[in-house]
Amino acid sequence: MSFHTLIILFFSGFCAANLTPPLVNISLDLLPEERWLPLVNIFNVKYLRESATRIIDTTVPKWVHHAITPIVEALESYIPQPYAGEIRGMASFYGAGISDVILLNFAYEITAFCTSVVAQDTKGHLYHGRNLDYPHVDILRNLTIDILFIKNGEVVYRGTSFAGYVGLWTGQSASKFTVSGNERNQGHWWENVISAILLKSSPVSWLVRETLEEAENFQDAVMRLSKVPIITDVYYIVAGVRPAEGVVITRNRRGAADIWPLDTLHGE
Ligand SMILES: *[C@@H]1O[C@H](CO)[C@@H](O)[C@H](O)[C@H]1NC(C)=O
Ligand SMILES: *[C@@H]1O[C@H](CO)[C@@H](O)[C@H](O)[C@H]1NC(C)=O
Repeated sequence: MSFHTLIILFFSGFCAANLTPPLVNISLDLLPEERWLPLVNIFNVKYLRESATRIIDTTVPKWVHHAITPIVEALESYIPQPYAGEIRGMASFYGAGISDVILLNFAYEITAFCTSVVAQDTKGHLYHGRNLDYPHVDILRNLTIDILFIKNGEVVYRGTSFAGYVGLWTGQSASKFTVSGNERNQGHWWENVISAILLKSSPVSWLVRETLEEAENFQDAVMRLSKVPIITDVYYIVAGVRPAEGVVITRNRRGAADIWPLDTLHGE
């Protein structure tokens, strides 16, 4: 077993011992506005609202928050479906302003900071591990959820996320591939917003979700994650189900800057 494989086992052991996030089923057959309602059975809504406020207050200076609220509200009409509907639904369950839920979904985008590892053992088994290392880790630990996305009664993909957040930074499409996104550099807040509006680009975490939902296999997932415009730079790590199916895609906004295949010769 390689060194990296041991690190991954350590991560999963740690998570299992200390934190088993609640599992929530999100039905993609429901209207986007209704999908996230099951969250209110798991979390205290007041706690969710207070946590959102704390995350925003520690990410965005108060005066900026006031100044941008109307602009962020206007941004709603640029947000594609199903995310716009899901965010609107979330705001109504939370009893929060729509601009704060939008902000929350973009705030994670600019503050995310995490690492993950893909490794292959000597038998050709692939391991895909990650940790999440956000600045608001004490709050986010309490908001972490495992999500099964269900369509026609079947689980189509699963992921780990935070209550209030519609994208995914990590997820698995059963018997096909796993994906995670790692922050590459923290683009300036306004650059990201402009990029989202003018270039009609997706947040990094939405592309992860779309890929999990739509990609047929590892190759298809790598292609989508390499090409679709996104609002900020990121590393996407993808692992398949067959030996040597592992890549790190270095993304800039418009396309792939680099693609590193898993180097099987060196046992990484
Ligand atoms: C979620 O869906 C899975 C798969 O359909 C099912 O086994 C499980 O019981 C569901 N859990 C809840 C809490 O509804
Ligand atoms: C997280 O939840 C625990 C247990 O409910 C609580 O004691 C703690 O204060 C919460 N942390 C934050 C940052 O909200």
